[in-house]
Amino acid sequence: MVKIGASILSADFGNLNEEIKKAEEAGVDFFHVDIMDGHFVPNISIGIGIAKDIKKIAKLPVDAHLMVENPDQFIDEFKGMDYITFHIEAVKFPFRTIKKIREIGAEPIVALNPATSLSSVGYILGEVHAVLIMTVEPGFSGQKFIPIMTKKIEKLKDIIANNGYDTKIFVDGGINVETAPLAVKAGADVLIAASAIFGKEDIKKAVKDLRESALK
Ligand code: DX5
Ligand code: ZN
Repeated sequence: MVKIGASILSADFGNLNEEIKKAEEAGVDFFHVDIMDGHFVPNISIGIGIAKDIKKIAKLPVDAHLMVENPDQFIDEFKGMDYITFHIEAVKFPFRTIKKIREIGAEPIVALNPATSLSSVGYILGEVHAVLIMTVEPGFSGQKFIPIMTKKIEKLKDIIANNGYDTKIFVDGGINVETAPLAVKAGADVLIAASAIFGKEDIKKAVKDLRESALK
């Protein structure tokens, strides 16, 4: 069954406690926290302190999505997170980054911007928990899913299967009831959504709708 990660980027930051509880009651599988530095992406979101507070409040696992330059320098600070997602475009030595993430007890996930080729992660595919395919340009919630990303997901699924890896495929960006079935059909195992969850009045219904759409 497909898993759903709730990206808190569209949550009400003044009411994080409530928002997290609501999402947990609605049946999401984990939280996805977007960290942006205004350099790697043209936006600034939240930092390490709030990410740690979210980890304290949440009963479910937390994934920190680092959209920052030189993520290696911050990895130790994220100790306690369950998953750490780093961008292949932001690191020079991915094997070293993966090692650092494992050393603090987290599972490494490598993210690729939409135009980044799959060959950039070919040699590390067997070393990471998952590959996160960005299905929008990173930086903002509420953007439109880039349709050709389904081809990228299909290709990645093939590469993973052909090599006998156990690597999962996450998708992030523009995931809603229309695009979730396309991503899942192409091979996505995990859907991450912000506006399709926290942007909705009834979070419980939003999560249920998203889950059901993925079965189509
Ligand atoms: C975008 C972030 C996403 C974002 C998704 O840079 O990585 O996690 O919050 O937002 P939606 O689901 O609204 O596209
Ligand atoms: Zn994200």
